[in-house]
Amino acid sequence: MTDVVVGVVVSGDRRGRTLGFPTANVESEGPVELPDDGVYAGRFRRADGSVHTAAISIGRRPTYYEAGIRLVEAHLLDFDGDLYGERVQVEVGPRVRGQLRFSSSEELIAQIERDVAAVRSLAAGEDAVGL
Ligand SMILES: Cc1cc2nc3c(=O)[nH]c(=O)nc-3n(C[C@H](O)[C@H](O)[C@H](O)COP(=O)(O)O)c2cc1C
Repeated sequence: MTDVVVGVVVSGDRRGRTLGFPTANVESEGPVELPDDGVYAGRFRRADGSVHTAAISIGRRPTYYEAGIRLVEAHLLDFDGDLYGERVQVEVGPRVRGQLRFSSSEELIAQIERDVAAVRSLAAGEDAVGL
């Protein structure tokens, strides 16, 4: 099992921006065994070497798809920019929760807000948790 995913940022459904949480969808260069589906705190390293704290979702977006493809998505905290086509590195840190199917986008948004708060506090204590 690897906890580092390397790949190019590809275009998703672009729903993330409408939800208020845009994500970089990273197409793993594999073959690597991805961490289990779920939500994680982690770090996102850009091609220029800059590093951003990220809320990472690995899974099939069960809120929207019955049998979706498995994606690695990263929402970068405090970042607004275009990452498409960039080769990046996603370091998957502590697990926050499993993937859930929500009955509305509003419920998913409310949960992602809590996830981002959890990721912020993990990152703030990063020395303690090794993030
Ligand atoms: C922190 C975080 C947690 C997420 N958790 C879930 C989840 O529990 N269930 C789910 O269906 N999708 C989850 N997602 C994925 C969203 O459904 C997805 O990012 C959104 O639909 C946008 O997809 P797109 O990038 O293809 O447009 C999560 C995304 C993020 C960033």
